[in-house]
Amino acid sequence: MTTSPQATLSVAEAAELASRVVTEVEKAVVGKREALLQVLAAILAKGHVLLEDYPGLGKTLAARSFAQSLGLDFRRAQFTPDLLPADLTGSFVYDQREARFDFRPGPIFTGLLLADEINRTPPKTQSALLEAMQERQVTVEGETFPLAAPFHVLATANPIEYEGTYPLPEAQLDRFLLRVSFGYPSAGEEYDVLARRLERRQEEVELEPVTDAAGLLAMQAAVETVVVGEDVGRYCVDLATATRTHTDVLTGASPRGSLGLVLAARAFALIRGRDYVIPEDVKAVARPVLAHRITVRPELWMTEASGRGVVDSVLAKVPTPSTLERR
Ligand SMILES: Nc1ncnc2c1ncn2[C@@H]1O[C@H](COP(=O)(O)OP(=O)(O)OP(=O)(O)O)[C@@H](O)[C@H]1O
Ligand SMILES: [Mg+2]
Repeated sequence: MTTSPQATLSVAEAAELASRVVTEVEKAVVGKREALLQVLAAILAKGHVLLEDYPGLGKTLAARSFAQSLGLDFRRAQFTPDLLPADLTGSFVYDQREARFDFRPGPIFTGLLLADEINRTPPKTQSALLEAMQERQVTVEGETFPLAAPFHVLATANPIEYEGTYPLPEAQLDRFLLRVSFGYPSAGEEYDVLARRLERRQEEVELEPVTDAAGLLAMQAAVETVVVGEDVGRYCVDLATATRTHTDVLTGASPRGSLGLVLAARAFALIRGRDYVIPEDVKAVARPVLAHRITVRPELWMTEASGRGVVDSVLAKVPTPSTLERR
């Protein structure tokens, strides 16, 4: 189904589209359902995603597949050490014939940007990206250009152990609604990757667009209608606050964390075909929403302590509201 710009979707219709998007992406990406649902939830919640994982686990494949099945323009920017902000945003170039400067837009002017290996680029270019993510516009030589709508960034980064030269500061990690890891496939899944590749006799997988930019905007609008009861909202706040007082923690999740929790949970509820949020939706997104917003005490770096561990522990500790199923 392709939707016109004015179209509005019910939660049920948007959920149906979402499920078809996932099914399409899964034609290319084997396994990884949980990670794929998280990425889709982030996009439906109008957010950006940080994919943190080792090389060769299908990050680029997943990003391209989402762009294809969502019917979005796709661009990829490799964040090398010499990448300049203008390489991303674009710049003014002199047109000889017309005798004037014209703006030549950079790769950031797209629907879905794969920002590959963002921790290999210096802070100046990282901030140019993060600023654009936040403001949804870029300013070049004093002139402001709005980015496309929808505009989503899937950024990849190597995990800490493989740290590039410029790890993202916590304040900037906060800009990503979700941090998702793919992890290694099981042996069965890995064999499936091989078998499917041999069967299709070519590298690329062709995916059909399930919707388009206007359709995605309509899905995002449907997410805005998903109901969040007060008890669920307070549960999100309790989880975020509990990360601040945990003994392993130097700084916990900010209010941007609890907001992220409620927004991502709402998108997740829609994906599951529900027009209201239950605590299980919040639990399902708590790790990818909160873990990267938590800084563990530096003296614990040799221990097992991690943002993830802190989230698990607050999930176990904070009482779950007993939201009754409405139907
Ligand atoms: N879960 C998977 N399903 C299908 N194919 C996969 C999967 N994981 C890896 N592959 C295949 O492995 C190859 C590497 O995947 P891809 O390029 O997406 O990895 P990546 O995570 O982007 O790696 P890098 O960090 O090096 O950029 C591709 O040919 C891809 O098709
Ligand atoms: Mg890649």
